[in-house]
Amino acid sequence: MPLTPDQSALVRGTVSFLRTHGETIASRFYASLLRAHPDLNNLFNSANQANGRQPRALVSVILAYAASPAHTYELIPRLERVCNKHCSLGITPDQYDLVGKYLLEAFGEVLGEKWTPSLRGAWENAYKVLANMLIGREAQLYSKFGSWKGFRFFRIEQKICEADDFYSFHLSPSDRKPLPSFSPGQYVSLRIDVPSIGYLQSRQYALSECPRKDYYRISVKRDRGIQANQGIEAFHLKPGLVSNLLIDKYEVGDLVSLSHPAGGFQFDVDVCGTGPIVFISAGAGATTLLSILNNVVEREDDRPLSWIHCSSRKAPFEEHVRCLARARDNFTIRLFQSQLADLEYRCGSAHGEGLKMDFQKLERKTLHLDHGATEYYICGPEAFTKDMSASLLGQGVDRARVKYEWFTTGELQLAA
Ligand SMILES: Cc1cc2nc3c(=O)[nH]c(=O)nc-3n(C[C@H](O)[C@H](O)[C@H](O)COP(=O)(O)OP(=O)(O)OC[C@H]3O[C@@H](n4cnc5c(N)ncnc54)[C@H](O)[C@@H]3O)c2cc1C
Ligand code: HEM
Repeated sequence: MPLTPDQSALVRGTVSFLRTHGETIASRFYASLLRAHPDLNNLFNSANQANGRQPRALVSVILAYAASPAHTYELIPRLERVCNKHCSLGITPDQYDLVGKYLLEAFGEVLGEKWTPSLRGAWENAYKVLANMLIGREAQLYSKFGSWKGFRFFRIEQKICEADDFYSFHLSPSDRKPLPSFSPGQYVSLRIDVPSIGYLQSRQYALSECPRKDYYRISVKRDRGIQANQGIEAFHLKPGLVSNLLIDKYEVGDLVSLSHPAGGFQFDVDVCGTGPIVFISAGAGATTLLSILNNVVEREDDRPLSWIHCSSRKAPFEEHVRCLARARDNFTIRLFQSQLADLEYRCGSAHGEGLKMDFQKLERKTLHLDHGATEYYICGPEAFTKDMSASLLGQGVDRARVKYEWFTTGELQLAA
């Protein structure tokens, strides 16, 4: 049922409280949900809970909704990433009631006396409206998944070292049935058992090759974490759980579970553009863009191309990209290497000045800035993606031509 004007006003009235206490509410909500339903630890990313990213991501959407509950259409583009992530993880409509129960209880606990019956009624209705929007879009996405529901076993057919700490896995379905196609740029969720925490864990990995009928390829970068001796005291991050397990313990013949390809960052293979394409990536971000690059080359599209990548060590896929470039006369490669690339962008852009300046030194012709139809595809850590998009927009590139994906949870807010 749509919100009444009174209910809208009550929901809007909680916005300033949510700005201050939203993360407390979200953290309490996840803690009580996971305490009461420990099996859901198999679904949620333990690192995003521990570092607060997931509670922050949830609050950001709820705040956007609460600020304007009567204009839900404005929210639709922001929900696309959430719905794709949900479908990739197999979230079902019945789980929305469970989440709503614990979320509204957490509202009540934190709001205390302010949680009057009428405010509670307004938020119950508001949650239903928001949940129904998500459920509706997720039903549409699931219908495109066909008979592939949930996770499916895949066998590791090949494990290839692409660069230091960077491995590709060729994965074939155990049931040997043909694989659905996907749009270059999309990802799968890969799920494995993580003995150190006693739960299954899923992580998203971009499909790094063009669509093939019999295997998917993902390419995984080891997350070493950040050690105290690397000089940035505020960041002592643990090594990543899933990437390290995959690289150290998973070999040819082992099984992993994958979900159907998903993700709204897609290269539209049906649109035949003619302008140049500039790919800009850092670290593992090259994986997403490689799938697009391979697709463009495989269909013999002769658009001018630039491949710009920065990483802390040797660039992954360097030989492959150089080999593609040798076969064309309109392909430019620029590789930046900085020992600090990883660290800088994990700690925020303030430390990324070196790379930012390198980027600003790139020739206009490498970036095809003078061509009004150049398309830019950017992928990497959140701060990198923000910096590079801002730099392009600052040089007069139209926002609609800058497409970006980032490898962390939550929304990426570009400068206005
Ligand atoms: C759409 C998408 C596509 C992606 N594609 C790729 C890809 O193609 N290749 C690729 O390599 N990666 C990709 N990623 C990233 C990937 O999903 C994982 O996030 C990455 O492999 C790290 O996972 P992990 O389990 O190893 O690390 P996690 O265990 O998830 O840890 C992640 C980070 O959180 C930190 N952390 C853990 N606990 C805490 C704590 N208590 N406090 C503070 N920080 C903490 C860790 O130190 C680590 O730096 C993609 C992500 C997305 C969203
Ligand atoms: C109105 C209800 C909901 C809202 C507003 C919401 C919002 C979000 C947001 C913003 C994200 C982060 C997306 C990203 O940037 O990657 C997310 C991820 C996720 N959501 Fe929801 N969600 C809702 C309901 C649910 C339900 C019902 C479930 C099922 C239990 C669920 C499980 C998850 C999981 C497992 C993730 C990924 C977490 C991670 O990777 O850390 N959500 N959701």
